[in-house]
Amino acid sequence: MTQSPVRVLTGITTTGTPHLGNYVGAVRPAIQASKDPGTQSYYFLADYHALIKCDDPQRIQRSTLEIAATWLAAGLDPEHVTFYRQSDIPEIPELMWLLTCVSGKGLLNRAHAYKASVDKNLAASQDPDADVTAGLFMYPVLMAADILMFQAQQVPVGRDQLQHIEMARDIASSFNHLYGEHLVLPQALIDEQVSTLPGLDGRKMSKSYNNTIPLFSSSAQLRKLIQGLVTDSKAPGEPKDPENSSLFQIYQAFASTQESLALRQAYAQGIAWGEAKALLLDKVEAAVAPMRDHYQQLLANPKQLEDILQAGAAKARRWTVPYLKTLREAAGLRPLGSSQAASHA
Ligand code: TRP
Repeated sequence: MTQSPVRVLTGITTTGTPHLGNYVGAVRPAIQASKDPGTQSYYFLADYHALIKCDDPQRIQRSTLEIAATWLAAGLDPEHVTFYRQSDIPEIPELMWLLTCVSGKGLLNRAHAYKASVDKNLAASQDPDADVTAGLFMYPVLMAADILMFQAQQVPVGRDQLQHIEMARDIASSFNHLYGEHLVLPQALIDEQVSTLPGLDGRKMSKSYNNTIPLFSSSAQLRKLIQGLVTDSKAPGEPKDPENSSLFQIYQAFASTQESLALRQAYAQGIAWGEAKALLLDKVEAAVAPMRDHYQQLLANPKQLEDILQAGAAKARRWTVPYLKTLREAAGLRPLGSSQAASHA
């Protein structure tokens, strides 16, 4: 008997330019995982989610282009996986409404992102909901729709997203309780191994800290950024500590175990920071260079990318259109005169 493949789904919010941290923490492991014959992968550009935090249309469009190009240049095979843009699937917002009607408002009140905004307002003696959009409040329901729409079983996410997966399970249970066992309860897949990369200043690499190394910097840019990477002030010849070295951590993410071991020894022997930076530059450049041309070529041909996304949407909708029909009918949105018995589990 052959086991049916596990459905794995992940969304990427289209607000930024991919950096080395995104590549090491998300893109590279996801593409690796998509090659497992036991999985059926769904990757999508979460542009509806992007609207929650970004009201700059240019930026959303540009980021969508850059992120789509990044995934393809990094080796995602759109023939093998389902790769699409959230806003090309009208069944997702439609499902979101069905889910909204079974989601407790109290459940959403407890969402971390919303609560953080409320707490900040309260601390500033403002109205609790000052500057909070209903979009931010509904974020977990949109995310539940993304996941439940495809009957995803596993959702690889960072720790910060765990609560959203739990909410998706809650919401799915409520729906199933009312209308029958139609939705599949997803599980979060948290990879503790996945490294978060430090940024140029030693804090976690993140757009909000403005300390990122863009994945597709030119060689010259990459050199300049790596030269600016923070180190301590130990002189050449003084032993250096790899454990507290951002340079070492970034190196490790791109090097083999043996190479990392060699650099560890070089640290103990007092390698000069300039020399260590040159080694890091070589490693990163070796990883990025083979993808860079493909990336640039995709950026220069948005029409080609658009065609790939449209093909992905068509593939996705072969599933979503009939499945949403089932869900609508289960909830009572169905042709008059059709049999009612069909809907009750
Ligand atoms: N909210 C996720 C993030 O910010 C992105 C996302 C949207 C997502 N929909 C999803 C992730 C569905 C996994 C599944 O990282």
